[in-house]
Amino acid sequence: MTDWREIEARVFMRTGKRLPVVLVRGEGVRVWDEDGKAYLDFFAGTATTSLGHCHPVVADALAEQSRTLILTSNVMYTVPQLQLAELLVEHSCLDRVYFANSGAEANEAAVKLARKWGREHRNGAFEVICAQEGFHGRTLAMITASGTAKYKEPFAPLPPGFVHVPFNDIEAIKRATNERTCAVMLEPVQGEGGVNVPDDGYLPAVRRWCDEQNVLLILDEVQTGFGRCGALFAYQLSGIEPDIMTLAKGIASGVPLSAVLAKEHCAVFTPSDHGSTFGGNPLATRVGYEVVRYIIDHGLPAKAAEDGRYLEQRLHGLEDRLDLVTGVRGKGLLWAVQLSREAAEHVVAGCLERGLIVNNVRPDAVRLCPPLIVSREELDEGLEILERVLTEVGGQATK
Ligand SMILES: Cc1ncc(COP(=O)(O)O)c(C=O)c1O
Repeated sequence: MTDWREIEARVFMRTGKRLPVVLVRGEGVRVWDEDGKAYLDFFAGTATTSLGHCHPVVADALAEQSRTLILTSNVMYTVPQLQLAELLVEHSCLDRVYFANSGAEANEAAVKLARKWGREHRNGAFEVICAQEGFHGRTLAMITASGTAKYKEPFAPLPPGFVHVPFNDIEAIKRATNERTCAVMLEPVQGEGGVNVPDDGYLPAVRRWCDEQNVLLILDEVQTGFGRCGALFAYQLSGIEPDIMTLAKGIASGVPLSAVLAKEHCAVFTPSDHGSTFGGNPLATRVGYEVVRYIIDHGLPAKAAEDGRYLEQRLHGLEDRLDLVTGVRGKGLLWAVQLSREAAEHVVAGCLERGLIVNNVRPDAVRLCPPLIVSREELDEGLEILERVLTEVGGQATK
């Protein structure tokens, strides 16, 4: 059998740790390794395979569109791109759409848009207030926008114009706002930072402050969008509307595609301001269209909300029974189990061994973000494995 791990060690540029498994196939919530062992996938490519692996809707759209039209240039009109743009506008509070290929690129476009708006409508304001522990991607500007020092330090000098404040602290945003500020950029729930859920009043207070100050609110819904948190978009859960929103991950259930959406008043791009060879190509947007339609038509955001209530109760059970679990937090199908010590890597390894893929979102927290199509039986199966492993890693079962 080919030793793929040896080949990786020899020829691949390592940018992160991998789990010791070579995956070769996926279907629904399960993936299989090269030895034929099955795993329940509660990581879903970091909340990306929204319809699970190789969903027929995705496979059929890919097959059909790949025989019809894969890519032209954005200097010509193509149909799936405009169908998806219309669908996103119809189901959100935003008015205009531009497509890119990754979350980081969508966020770059959002910041460019905010800066151009600042130049035209706020006396050249260019600074973006971001949150500590936020994550917006890996381009130079987006590592700068992100709140984690270790992602940035090796790559200095970093672009200017980003300031950071603690998440869930409206007073800190107020203190950081000045005549240079053009936007506040936040995740409604911080995903990579550890599934940090702000207080209910936080986003409404940020919205009010942005309105008072004539500053844009950019919501990065790259991870929280498309039903993940129990509404089509997480902003809908807090009763506010962003001026700009970015989307990626779940939009096409694993096919690379992202989008930046803006309200009319700040959709200030004009020809030659932005562009991308692959952005909004017919293949990816056709899949995106079919996936988003499926999510809406099958009520998957409401299902995620219901699953979330079930998960919350089951995870609180773990907290009650196990010393190792000191808290749980999340919304819909995005949850973190907080551990009393930095044992998340052991928990992830133990789960993998027993056929469950989860992720150590922090050294002391394990994230669960299964596909939106996960069944109650699959949730139970995953939770049973998790409890067994947490018990083993924790040493004993009861509090
Ligand atoms: C909230 C958020 N924004 C942006 C990104 C970056 O997306 P991508 O990896 O597609 O560039 C991520 C990825 O985890 C994310 O969670």
